Amino acid sequence: MAEVSLRKIVKAYEGGVQAVKGIDLEIQDHEFVVLVGPSGCGKSTTLRMIAGLEEITAGEIAIGGTVVNDIPPRDRDIAMVFQNYALYPHMSVYENMAFGLTLRKFPKAEIDKRVKEAARILDITPLLERKPKALSGGQRQRVAMGRAIVRDPKVFLFDEPLSNLDAKLRVQMRTEIKKVHQTVRTTTVYVTHDQVEALTLADRVVVMNHGIIEQVGPPQELYHHPATKFVAGFIGSPAMNFIPAQLEEASGGLNIVIAGGMSLPVPPSRVDRYRGHAGKPVLFGIRPEHLTDDKTTDKHHLEPLSLTPEVIEPMGMETLAHFKLEGTEISARLDPSTPAEVGKPLALLAHMGQMHLIDPATDKVI
Ligand SMILES: Nc1ncnc2c1ncn2[C@@H]1O[C@H](COP(=O)(O)OP(=O)(O)OP(=O)(O)O)[C@@H](O)[C@H]1O
Ligand SMILES: [Mg+2]
Repeated sequence: MAEVSLRKIVKAYEGGVQAVKGIDLEIQDHEFVVLVGPSGCGKSTTLRMIAGLEEITAGEIAIGGTVVNDIPPRDRDIAMVFQNYALYPHMSVYENMAFGLTLRKFPKAEIDKRVKEAARILDITPLLERKPKALSGGQRQRVAMGRAIVRDPKVFLFDEPLSNLDAKLRVQMRTEIKKVHQTVRTTTVYVTHDQVEALTLADRVVVMNHGIIEQVGPPQELYHHPATKFVAGFIGSPAMNFIPAQLEEASGGLNIVIAGGMSLPVPPSRVDRYRGHAGKPVLFGIRPEHLTDDKTTDKHHLEPLSLTPEVIEPMGMETLAHFKLEGTEISARLDPSTPAEVGKPLALLAHMGQMHLIDPATDKVI
């Protein structure tokens, strides 16, 4: 097992596309780090550079303290699981898992021990003699992980390993991957574009955008303290509402004044932090779960607000309501027992203790 260091990593593809623009990242031994971001932001490129499958244009990558820039993939002691993990169709599950070790001329007894241990961890012992075609999608995914586990590598690299599975299986396998990591503790770098997968799996999440890192932090920190508008909007579903507003002085405090005249007081504890932006335009950020009729979660700084739903979506455990506020689409999470009706004003509470303010000039959270 090992730590992984990325130092000023750049990847420029032929034709001048800079896919990765000088990123720095220190991954600790045993850590589970998830790279997340929209399509094309450079996640796979970063992972493939760690694996050695892609040449590094500039910068340095170290695994376990050794710079690996010039070390070929097979000597980096990493195991990679892709979205399209092709299993050998003519080999049994056991043979598929053993194959890499056989090639590396491991003794038969050692191979047997490792395959059986991996099968136990992955709960596929009864499947060892089956061929891949006799397995479900989730079982095949486990075998692909088994192949990586038996190698006992320094680092696991996963590139969207669950995206071929249906929604239910994806959630199940997500839990499996977490369990496996809790057992084997191998340093893991995991790529996904799914922010829920990122939050649920990661010790630390790395949010990428256009080839740079926007923010690195534990899931709760990214959710509660996003550093930029991009992170605030990317983490959390449905996404945070962003409402254009003006920050105004008001008898010792500050008010967020929304076009149309609605005015919401800033909690006193935040006033000093925001004071420098008084008189300027801001984006008022509030998550749907903090614009709600639910009074139970937080009793402080609740500001009443009346909005008229345009669409109501019952989800079972909650109901989503969508509104238009001075031209901005916003959504709120309601208690499912709330009798909300399209076109009928609805009494909501803005949990101002959970709000965010963004400087529209820099897109940074203030
Ligand atoms: N071989 C290549 N030649 C030129 N450009 C490439 C090549 N591979 C990737 N790119 C470009 O580099 C950028 C980053 O690609 P990358 O595959 O790392 O994105 P990603 O974050 O993994 O996206 P996705 O979620 O769609 O897999 C994209 O703009 C992509 O078009
Ligand atoms: Mg990719």
